[in-house]
Amino acid sequence: MFPHERVLIRRGPESGLPIIVAVHSTALGQALGGCRMKEYPDWRDGLEDALRLSAAMSEKCALAGMPHGGGKTVVVTSSSFDRTAALHDVGTVIEELNGLYATGPDVGTGPADMLTIAERTSHVFCRPADSGGSGDSSPATALGTVAALRAVCAILSGQSAINTTPPARNVANSGLPGAAGRTLAGRSAAESTLAGQSAAEGTLAGRSVAESTLAGRSFAVLGLGHVGKRVARLLAEAGAKLVVSDIDPARREVAAELGATWATPDECLTAEVDVLVPAALGGLLTPAVVPALRCTAIAGPANNQLDAPSTADLLHARGILWAPDYIVSAGGVLRATAVELHHETPAQVTARLNGIATTLTAIFETAERKGITPAAAAAAEAQRRINPTSDRGEAE
Ligand code: PHE
Repeated sequence: MFPHERVLIRRGPESGLPIIVAVHSTALGQALGGCRMKEYPDWRDGLEDALRLSAAMSEKCALAGMPHGGGKTVVVTSSSFDRTAALHDVGTVIEELNGLYATGPDVGTGPADMLTIAERTSHVFCRPADSGGSGDSSPATALGTVAALRAVCAILSGQSAINTTPPARNVANSGLPGAAGRTLAGRSAAESTLAGQSAAEGTLAGRSVAESTLAGRSFAVLGLGHVGKRVARLLAEAGAKLVVSDIDPARREVAAELGATWATPDECLTAEVDVLVPAALGGLLTPAVVPALRCTAIAGPANNQLDAPSTADLLHARGILWAPDYIVSAGGVLRATAVELHHETPAQVTARLNGIATTLTAIFETAERKGITPAAAAAAEAQRRINPTSDRGEAE
């Protein structure tokens, strides 16, 4: 069966650029997914990206427990183009869908661009806060990533439920009295968290747990963009050891500022660390790369990290724990909907971001119990939620 509900490909009436909107699924509700603006060798490469990324958004929303499906917009840019015209075209194409899909920021776009899109459609998240939106989603994506990293490190320390000891359940905001107390303890810290500040670390799961989980652990953060830079900073503040890298040599300053070791992207990818944190573009984990890896686990916010689903098996065979990227990176879309649709308080949003750790821990447990990869466990669980009547065989 063709997996996508609807794919629109339009020549933008104002820009002349290819505008691609892929709606993968609306089974759980309105499809969500950011607007990527990027040069591609050919528009068909942009189409392929839209198809893969929108499918991943369905899994992301389902596993984040959101009543939403997955979609994605791709604008295939050229070396010089009229940005306003292109964004207007995005709005015009999204408006055609009558609310079946709403967009948000992604690689190559930000809150100001969402305001331009909003001149043609109301189905857009993350306009700047002073224009009525929830603003930049990257601080929340970074916080969700750090929650996921705590879950991963709890597993590495043998604290997790996989080893049947309770601490990770508390970390993961399970609803136990202790966990709830921790989560709600730092309301003001939670507020600064959402403004992108790092006091968050203690708020998320209780300072002592967070410190014991992340402190002294080593991480290689690959990509210091909006999200990667914030993740690196949160980890540094939690007392982690860091190797960082970016294709832009100017970002070396971030390494100096954080007391991190600067490396080339290749060195970073194969650094000997506890956790590799992919925070740049996808497709970095390939059969050629897997044998060279020297990390114990991989968890980061980059979308579509695996070049192909079977690469998850290669990682598993090497004993490397891979956290499905679409679980790790759900913080941005979680916060945007929590704030804009549900008008939640910062403490409620923080609890949702912590939920990423709970979800990830549960997926690791299921994978362990069934002897399958976390990728397979996550895919089966997403499928079960999206399409409850047809999960026969999938989970086995
Ligand atoms: N880039 C975001 C993601 O992949 C997309 C997004 C953010 C969509 C916020 C809607 C709202 O999750």
